[in-house]
Amino acid sequence: MAQLLVAVSDSVFPNLDQARAVLSKVGAEVRLAADAKPETILGVARDADALLTTYAKITGDMIRQMKRCRIISRFGIGVDNVDIGAATERGIVVTRVPDYCIDEVSDHAMALLLALVRKIPFANSMVHAGRWEMPAVVPIHRLRGSVLGLVGFGRIPQLVAPKAKSFGIRVVAYDPYIPKEIFARAGVESVEFAELLKISDYVSIHSPLMAETQSMFNAEVFREMKPTAYLINTARGPIVDEKALADALDAKQIAGAALDVMPQEPPSGSPLFGRPNVIITPHTSFYSEESLVDLQTKAAEEVVRVIDGRMPRNPVNPEVLQRTA
Ligand SMILES: NC(=O)c1ccc[n+]([C@@H]2O[C@H](COP(=O)([O-])OP(=O)(O)OC[C@H]3O[C@@H](n4cnc5c(N)ncnc54)[C@H](O)[C@@H]3O)[C@@H](O)[C@H]2O)c1
Repeated sequence: MAQLLVAVSDSVFPNLDQARAVLSKVGAEVRLAADAKPETILGVARDADALLTTYAKITGDMIRQMKRCRIISRFGIGVDNVDIGAATERGIVVTRVPDYCIDEVSDHAMALLLALVRKIPFANSMVHAGRWEMPAVVPIHRLRGSVLGLVGFGRIPQLVAPKAKSFGIRVVAYDPYIPKEIFARAGVESVEFAELLKISDYVSIHSPLMAETQSMFNAEVFREMKPTAYLINTARGPIVDEKALADALDAKQIAGAALDVMPQEPPSGSPLFGRPNVIITPHTSFYSEESLVDLQTKAAEEVVRVIDGRMPRNPVNPEVLQRTA
């Protein structure tokens, strides 16, 4: 039997040791493309049995030239860099890893919430500039008894909820697509979006980016929030209209914001830069040394499952497998 070959289009990992260890179980050789140009990727992927990919665009044209490929496994949650339609047409299953960083993102959302409410970055920069004074951070409100509104109640916010509750925060959530039992089991109140905006002291966004959530947080929405409210976004940048947020902060319609994601990444200037009541982190919510190990291992395990003729855990086009079953 010919040596199995797994191509890697691009990688953010320091090395591919974990993926190689997993793939060695099926005797597969791993070959990483030297750069993410389509021709270079095809150089390793054209005759590969599987492709692992991170951010590189895997177009229909490329997929049609991959003669032996059975699976395209994404190192990550979203699969928007892969032409799923073309993969489906060629009978190639596309998989993702939806659960490698849910501890990290939920921790990051809480860290942003606490940093905002306790004004840590502002107080820290003040002290480093030689000012040791309490009046500058006034007002700070008590967390216990405050309300956190979660927009979306999927995997990540379901982990935010118990963490917030341990601080005495009341948690409500808006997610029109999940059964009420899930809210009940989590001890979280299900509310309509308008109600969430009205009662929340902090609003944390956890919905996916889709046509219906693009600019979901706009001028009209900021007008409905409490003037003392804080906005936290660890989901996707375009869910928040950046200009409308800057205007809302100028007009004191809300008190501050903490963002791990921006409409354009990396941002080239932003009306949100330089504000003491805005915290921005460079899309690092997902990251810990441990989450990267999980991600690499789980994406490679999907390849092993498919090569072994088993069902992958997280296919995005499972109809391909039903067709071949
Ligand atoms: N910043 C980062 O590093 C990072 C890392 C991982 C995930 N994310 C983002 O976080 C988001 C949430 O992750 P998750 O694992 O909880 O996702 P998930 O897929 O488990 O849940 C998404 C939830 O959003 C709900 N939803 C869909 N449309 C909605 C709408 N219009 N209003 C309210 N809710 C809606 C769905 O019903 C679902 O329950 C992801 O979509 C991803 O974009 C960011």
